[in-house]
Formats: sequence, structure tokens, C-alpha cells
Amino acid sequence: MYYIITINIGRALFLRTLSVLRSKMTRLNKFLAECGVGSRRVCDKLIADGVVTVNGKTAELGTMVGENDRVTVNGKRVENKQKLCYIMLHKPKGYVTTVSDDLGRKTVMDLVHTQARVYPVGRLDYDTEGLLLLTNDGELANRLTHPRNEVNKTYVARVSGAVTEQERIALEKGVLVDGVKTAPARVRILSRDAHHTRCEVTVHEGRNHQVRKMFEAVGKEVEFLKRVAIGDLRLGGLSRGESRFLTESEIDYIKNI
Ligand code: URA
Repeated sequence: MYYIITINIGRALFLRTLSVLRSKMTRLNKFLAECGVGSRRVCDKLIADGVVTVNGKTAELGTMVGENDRVTVNGKRVENKQKLCYIMLHKPKGYVTTVSDDLGRKTVMDLVHTQARVYPVGRLDYDTEGLLLLTNDGELANRLTHPRNEVNKTYVARVSGAVTEQERIALEKGVLVDGVKTAPARVRILSRDAHHTRCEVTVHEGRNHQVRKMFEAVGKEVEFLKRVAIGDLRLGGLSRGESRFLTESEIDYIKNI
């Protein structure tokens, strides 16, 4: 009887100590993202590629780190001492949404001027323009792009031909893109002429070429595509190629989106 009580108290103490220790530990991918190395997905890839070490040992997915651990990526020490930075860019077409491009094309990084190690949140196609966020806040980048959070993205699209009411409704209800039905969307016709229709499209999924492929599914080609808002955060009058820091209230808003 005494043995059982002693073993149970010992076990409870051990579990409590473990949970206190764990609460000061962070998952390695989260730590790297907070240090501005990249989104959690990018950090997972670096860990899987074996280029991340913790205290001299090659790290594994799921490794936890505390404040005294020494973390390196490609041999360089990574520390969390940067100030968080949030930038809105009006991406022009003809720029790749990436930190560096293997083919040597112009990237969105050529357009932002900051010492902070920011990276793009999500992606706009090479031929798409509009609102792109860049940050070194890995937590926020992760939350804004995670499908579970269903953050609305609003685009203006100019498409070939006349979009009929039937097609508009089909786009709203969901169309087959790569064999999978798209989630409900909002589609408003802004204007029409003999050759084109201008539409405002709001989606919360972030599939590859989503808006272009949605219109393709109803037999229309997107000739021009611009993202004008993420949630209620709007591009406003920011000129093509220009960037600016988000205001305090915009930062508050996107953190609570
Ligand atoms: N949908 C697209 O087709 N392209 C983008 O860049 C964004 C959304």
C-alpha cells in the first residue's frame, strides 16, 4: 500500500517537472520561424534536409528546443533577436514570390528595403499583381496561410468573354479544380463589355493558381489578376512596386484575423 502511494506521488512529481520543463521548450520549426528563417513548412524542409543542428547534433522533425540550446542552419547560428516587421507590398506582375529564384528572375525581395529577414506570406503567381505581405513573424505567416483559418483573399479579375449569371453562381458554389471541388466563394460582376468581364472574387482557399483555374473550369481565361485585400486589410492606393510598413492597428488586425 505505502509503496503504491510513494510510487504515485513520485510519478506525479516527475510528470509535473516534465510539464514545467516542456512549457519552456519550443518546437524547433516554430523557433526557426520566429527567428525569421522561413515559414514553418520551409523550416520543416530544412530540418528534414539535415541542415539544422541543435547543440551540434543533426536535428529531427519534432525536436524541442529551450533558450540555452545552440541552433544552427547550414552551419550558421540562429538566434531570436530580431524585431518583428510587417510589410505590405504592391507586387507587380513579372516578379516571383520567393526569397531567391533558381532561374535568376526578379523576386519580390528586390522590391522591399529592410534589414529584417522578411519573407513573403503565401504566394502570388508571376503574372498576378497586388497585395502581398512580407514578415519575419513566422507565427503570423503560419496562421495567415493555414487552410484551417480560412482567411479571405479578394481579387479583381478581368476575364475573356461574358461571364453569365449561371457561371457566376457555379463559381460561387464550387467548381472542379484538379479534380477537387472548390470551397464556396463570393463572385461579383463589376462590369462587362463585348469582350471582357471584370469580377471581384473572394476565396479563402489558397490552392495553386486558384482563381485562374476556377475561371478555366467555366471556360474563361483570366487576362489580368490583382489581389486587392486579405481579410479587411486593403491594398488601397499603394502604387505598383511600392511597399510600406503596416500600421499598429493593421498589425493588431492581422494578428487577430
Ligand atoms: N489565384 C491565382 O490564380 N493566382 C494567384 O496568384 C492568386 C490566386
